[in-house]
Amino acid sequence: MAEEPTVVIRRGDAGEGAGLKEIAIASKGHWGYEPERVREWADRGDFGADALSRLAVFVAEAEGRAIAWASVELRGGTAWLADLWVEPEWIRKGVGSRLFRCAADHARNVGASALEWEAEPNALGFYEKMGAKRVRDGASEWGRTLAVMAVKLDD
Ligand SMILES: CC(C)(COP(=O)(O)OP(=O)(O)OC[C@H]1O[C@@H](n2cnc3c(N)ncnc32)[C@H](O)[C@@H]1OP(=O)(O)O)[C@@H](O)C(=O)NCCC(=O)NCCS
Repeated sequence: MAEEPTVVIRRGDAGEGAGLKEIAIASKGHWGYEPERVREWADRGDFGADALSRLAVFVAEAEGRAIAWASVELRGGTAWLADLWVEPEWIRKGVGSRLFRCAADHARNVGASALEWEAEPNALGFYEKMGAKRVRDGASEWGRTLAVMAVKLDD
């Protein structure tokens, strides 16, 4: 069996939003949502340089190509995981958990006491593995209410 290429994680650049948006679209589409709905959802997001420069962005690369990314925003004493997207062919290969740990470590290092995010329902099992708990209802998306999940960072 061929060995998987090495995955390295680096900080993202504010100018690479277009590529990161395409990863988010492919990744969200992995759950079988209608492609048009996923593209509309992505078009409502802001992947511009100004928006990205307000986030801490972590990009996973394999063979010099971005394959996954995460972003974190500090909101008062809590950090918000705004993005976590792994390209479909890289799902379940440990990349998401590495990015999640990077995001949580960053949030802890900048003094946040917790990391929170609105979870895609299909990813809840993954987040439970990361030690997260549901803390409240979030926004509604496509007729369902998303859960806000959290991990504490100060114990
Ligand atoms: C959710 C996501 C980020 C997880 O990343 P990943 O790279 O596939 O996860 P990992 O390979 O690091 O998995 C870590 C652990 O979680 C488990 N896991 C991964 N995805 C899971 C899922 N959807 N449900 C239940 N468990 C899951 C793995 O089996 C693994 O368990 P182990 O440690 O016992 O072996 C990735 O599937 C993804 O990008 N999905 C599409 C987009 C999405 O839903 N993003 C989240 C937006 S809130």
